[in-house]
This record gives sequence, C-alpha cells and structure tokens, in this order.
Amino acid sequence: MRAYQILPGDGIDGLQCVDFPDHAPGAGEVRVRVRAVSLNYRDLMVASGNYLVNVDDPIIPCSDGAGEVVATGPGVTRVQVGDRVAASFFPYWQDGRTGPDKVRHALGGDIDGMLAEEVVLHEDALVKIPASMSFVDAATMPCAGVTAWNAIFESSNGIQPGDTVLLLGTGGVSVLGLQLAKAAGLTTIITSSSDDKLQRAKELGAHHVINYRSTPEWQEEVLRVTGGLGADVVLEVGGQGTVNRSVASASMGGSVAIIGGVSGFGGEVNPATLLTGAKRMVGIFVGSRTMLEKVMRFAETAGIQPVVDRVFTFEQAQEAYRHMESGAHFGKVVIALGQ
Ligand SMILES: NC(=O)c1ccc[n+]([C@@H]2O[C@H](COP(=O)([O-])OP(=O)(O)OC[C@H]3O[C@@H](n4cnc5c(N)ncnc54)[C@H](OP(=O)(O)O)[C@@H]3O)[C@@H](O)[C@H]2O)c1
Repeated sequence: MRAYQILPGDGIDGLQCVDFPDHAPGAGEVRVRVRAVSLNYRDLMVASGNYLVNVDDPIIPCSDGAGEVVATGPGVTRVQVGDRVAASFFPYWQDGRTGPDKVRHALGGDIDGMLAEEVVLHEDALVKIPASMSFVDAATMPCAGVTAWNAIFESSNGIQPGDTVLLLGTGGVSVLGLQLAKAAGLTTIITSSSDDKLQRAKELGAHHVINYRSTPEWQEEVLRVTGGLGADVVLEVGGQGTVNRSVASASMGGSVAIIGGVSGFGGEVNPATLLTGAKRMVGIFVGSRTMLEKVMRFAETAGIQPVVDRVFTFEQAQEAYRHMESGAHFGKVVIALGQ
C-alpha cells in the first residue's frame, strides 16, 4: 500500500509517496481502507515545522480521515469488516475532560496519520459514520468539526438557542462552526478578507457578515449588529492579531474560545477586559471521540453537508496542500482515494 510521509519542517516539497508493506492488525486493531482525508491548517504547520511535535523520523501526515474496515484483529468488538468509520484526532481521548494522558498522541502529529491508502488503528480510535454521510463529508469532522462543536456546545458558558456566535474567517473550523451554529438556531456573525467569501457565507445562512480588511475595527461592527450586547461565543482562530478584538466582541458572561493563531501567537490581553465583562477565555484542544460521535450525529440529524471547497486525488496531495496554503479556500479541502 502507498502512503505519504513527511519529515516535519521539510515543507510541502518534502511530502513524498512511499510504498509500505501491508501490516496485519494485531489484538484490538483494525485495518481501514482510507477513502477520504481532509486537510487542516495544522497539516501546513507540520509541513513547515511550526507545529509543536518532537519527531526525528518522517511520519504519515494528516489527522482527519474516513474509510471502510477491511480487517479486524483478535478481540475487536466495536467495529466489523465493512463498517464505515472515521478516526478520532486524539486516539486516547475517548470521553470526559481532557488530560495529559488522553492527548499524549495525535494522528499526523507525533504518530502516523491518515494520508495513506490503508491505516491500522486501535478500535478505540474509531467511530462509525452515520448512514447518510459520505466519506468526504465524514473526513471533515475529526478536527474542524469537533473543534467547532467543542467551542460552541461543550466549552461555552451555556449557549442557548437565539444566542450569538462570532466566527473569524472562512476556513475549515469557521465555516463548519457557521453551519453547526445556524442549524442549532443560533445567530451567526462571520468575518472574512473577501466579499465573495462573505457572499457565500450569506448563502449558507450567516445573519451578519463583516469584511475584516475594509472594516479593521470589526469588533465595533459586531457590537453594532448585536445592539451593543456582543457575541455569546467567539471562535478565536486568529491569534495575536485578533484576540483583543475578539474579547471586545464578546458579550458580558460570554466565552472566547481560543482555538488558533493564523496571524501568529503572542501579544497580551489586559485582564481587566475580561473582568469587567465577566468574560471567559477557554482553550480548545480539538476534542474527544464522544464529541466526534456527537457532531456527526448532529450533522446527520440537522442535514448539514459540510462545505468542501475542492476535492483532490491522492496523487495530487502536494497540490491540495498548496491550495490550502494559498488561503483561497472556503471551508474544507479534501483528498479522496478510490472514489
Ligand atoms: N485548538 C484546536 O484544537 C484547533 C483545531 C483546529 C484548528 N485550529 C487552528 O485554528 C486555525 C484555523 O484552522 P483551519 O484549519 O480552519 O484553517 P484554514 O481552513 O486554513 O482557515 C484559515 C482562515 O483564517 C482566516 N484568516 C487569516 N488571517 C486572518 C485574520 N488576520 N483574521 C481573521 N481571519 C483570518 C482566513 O479566512 P478568509 O480567507 O475568509 O479571510 C483563512 O481562510 C489555525 O490556527 C489552526 O491551527 C486549532
């Protein structure tokens, strides 16, 4: 079977397709024929060497994949041959609060991930895909879907229908967050550098859109469209360039979910800006297998079809990475195998 490998830091050119011998599943393990893999900003960070992992040897990249079970090892009970499954970002975080042991390994980070024709994983790392969900759609869920779900529904300060969610930019996490929030009856505000992308966000049902280039003080616009109240949850993916505006955009008692740093990490937040509004900042580290099950169940129930910007073939993996790197995408970028 073929798989891509990369040594973190070698760049997108370092992504190489390699032949591997087939590996029979051991006790508790499952062999999965991968049918779709989605890219995350984190995969670009792994390629550029900006992701905090200690690995000396090449790894198979990408956390997010879906496929079908083709063989099971002794003692496997959670899945059987023929089941359609997706892999959970943290193979050891099944449920409950996180902890160092649960996030000690992450697919496509410090251990092999999903950009392969076949993978062998422990059964505990897998969830079954809802019947109505395609492999491509399922592959968008383990990182982007779970992160957005966790930020809005698990780690916020008790979100209620009618509350307001602010999403920054139109990448994978934010567009899936928009779709989940909209389906849950929340008011949605989304920002982008592109009016064309904002138009697409409106077509998806965004209530308010703001161009953060032409409106650099976009937090004022968030306050204006919410009648001065602010957003009850902010999905903060921007980092140092946006975090203070995100705090200013949050309502009294609201939550700023600290997710990413597309503008870099660093900067300062004045504690008084949190104190006077009784606001919370909460770090989000993707989520558990249970959250993956929940977000997939909700997507199926609500009829959400994740927005996939482009689907590339396995042979076009480098091209898919470069498309993601260009920032031209709206939603998710997917690599499909054997479709
Ligand atoms: N903590 C976690 O568990 C977790 C999980 C998933 C992702 N993340 C992080 O979250 C971030 C987003 O990930 P992703 O996979 O969704 O990335 P992505 O698909 O590449 O999306 C990034 C988007 O960010 C927007 N953007 C760029 N600069 C911005 C700025 N200064 N202000 C506001 N928006 C800006 C752009 O949107 P426009 O083109 O519309 O301007 C761009 O498309 C990354 O930092 C990633 O590492 C963290």
